[in-house]
Amino acid sequence: MTADSRLIIPLDMPTRAAAERLIGCLDETVSFYKVGLQLLASEGMALAHDVSRQGKQVFLDWKLHDIGATVERATAAIVASGACDLLTVHAEPQVMAAAVKGRGGETRAKILGVTVLTSLDDDALEALGYGLSVAALVERRIRQAIDAGVDGVVASPHEAELARRLGGPDFLVVTPGVRPTGAALDDQARAATPADALKAGASHLVCGRPITAAADPKAAALAVIAEMAAVPRSS
Ligand code: C5P
Repeated sequence: MTADSRLIIPLDMPTRAAAERLIGCLDETVSFYKVGLQLLASEGMALAHDVSRQGKQVFLDWKLHDIGATVERATAAIVASGACDLLTVHAEPQVMAAAVKGRGGETRAKILGVTVLTSLDDDALEALGYGLSVAALVERRIRQAIDAGVDGVVASPHEAELARRLGGPDFLVVTPGVRPTGAALDDQARAATPADALKAGASHLVCGRPITAAADPKAAALAVIAEMAAVPRSS
């Protein structure tokens, strides 16, 4: 069975060496990796270059959020690294517009808006002064992402259907919180199986601990890929 480029494995480990061990272990079964803040704060960009040189795709989960001019320059620098296929920014209109401007004509790097962090619930949004439920804010931010011209959003599998409907067939809908049938939920409150997330409209799945913490990560990745094969690619 070959890699399914809709599957993204997060490299949520403390060191580049640990990430490289996992990549070596997964070998040809995985073609897309996510580098998050922990590694980006140390050796993440060097790792991203290595992964990219191996012919793999790289998701840099920077979750940028700053004034427009800073986001624009940071996006331009990240894109110029040549090791970025997906980049996250928070889904606020000025942040997303600045990222699109900073990306310029470089079409390899796609920009995703992070709608609402899953660590925030309705009460937390109320305390922050939003005056909107999580569901209402997610919908507003998906619409704002489309208006800003980003390539897609990060959303839970439960919001994938809405994002697909609003964004249309080419909109990227990247869903974490994916759990193979029978797997532990860990701390994912709004999880879905790989097939259900794809059926809901996800273009890409981020599946971490069920694979990265498995005794045999390669076998675990192959099991997820087998579940994904039940849902053919839409494009
Ligand atoms: O191990 P697990 O499959 O839960 O990992 C999910 C990955 O997706 C982690 O890198 C986590 O930071 C990220 N993520 C998430 N929920 C979000 C956004 C990102 O779990 N809403």
